[in-house]
Parts: sequence; structure tokens; C-alpha cells
Amino acid sequence: MNKPPIRVLFFCLGNICRSPLAEALFRHHVRQRGLADEFEIASAGTSGYHVGEPPDPGSVRVARERLQLDISDQRAQQLDPSHLRDYDYLVAMDRSNLRNAEQLDGASEAALLLFRDFESNPETRGADVPDPWGGGPSHFEDVYDIVDRCAEAFLDYVSQREGIDP
Ligand code: 4NP
Repeated sequence: MNKPPIRVLFFCLGNICRSPLAEALFRHHVRQRGLADEFEIASAGTSGYHVGEPPDPGSVRVARERLQLDISDQRAQQLDPSHLRDYDYLVAMDRSNLRNAEQLDGASEAALLLFRDFESNPETRGADVPDPWGGGPSHFEDVYDIVDRCAEAFLDYVSQREGIDP
């Protein structure tokens, strides 16, 4: 019998800057480790401001430049109570995203996590992934670096918790 996939959803406010990068970079690390069949990966925004839109050009550009990855086919969706029921891990980019998600029905039973709790450096652990919306390329570069290392660390955590062999 096939094991059901481990379902992971990353979320921010708009689902156009930070969480699309988190989705793409986590998927990248999952593939690198040969674990693509074990996971189902998505992203969402706590707001409905950008539903149906592709990622911000800043995120599309940094994914292309740094990893030759095309994320332009992603489309923003709004986080809703069905996501809280359906996903095994729901990972917020910042504390205000987390507070917004905690208002949704079913939040108390959901595995709501903060992405930067997975930073290995205690100095940055628990911080927000800064919102780069409206910022220049350097803001998206900074987000890329943070998201990339947290995606790997979070994959280590999930793999260990789920008993996936390294
Ligand atoms: P994100 O960035 O939450 O990382 O997708 C933002 C995108 C849009 C807005 C705010 C943040 N907005 O206010 O429309």
C-alpha cells in the first residue's frame, strides 16, 4: 500500500513574494534528496489581495537568477480552513501571518509553524521573513537566502519526524 504524501503548505500575506519562493525552494530540496514522491507542496496567502495572480516579478527573477527555476506558473490562493484540515504542516513566513491563520476555524488542531524557527543561528531564530513587496532586487535576494536555508532545515526536521531515511 502506498503511503499518503506528507502535505506541506507555506503561507505569507499575499502569496506572491515569500511563500511562492518557499514552495519552490522546498520542492527543489525535496527533489535533490529524491523525495518528490513523498511530498505534496503548496503555498497560500492569508489575504485575498492577489488571488489568481502569478508571483511578483522580484520573486520570479531571483528564482531564475539563483537557481534557473521558473516559478511564473504558480498562482496565488487564499488560505482557508480547508487547508488547515488538509495539510500536515502549515508554515508561516512571519508572526503576523501566524496570528492571521490562528483566527481561522480549526486553527487549534492545525500544525501551524513559523518558518524561521528552523534557523540554526540563535540570533535569527524566530524572526520574520521580511516582506520584500515593493522593494528592490536586494530585498528579494535577502528573502531568497533566508528561505533557502530555512527550507533545508525544515526538510531535515520533517524527514526526521516522519522517519524518512536520509
Ligand atoms: P507576500 O508579500 O506576503 O510575501 O506575498 C506581499 C504581497 C502583497 C502585499 C503585501 C505583502 N499587499 O499588501 O498587497
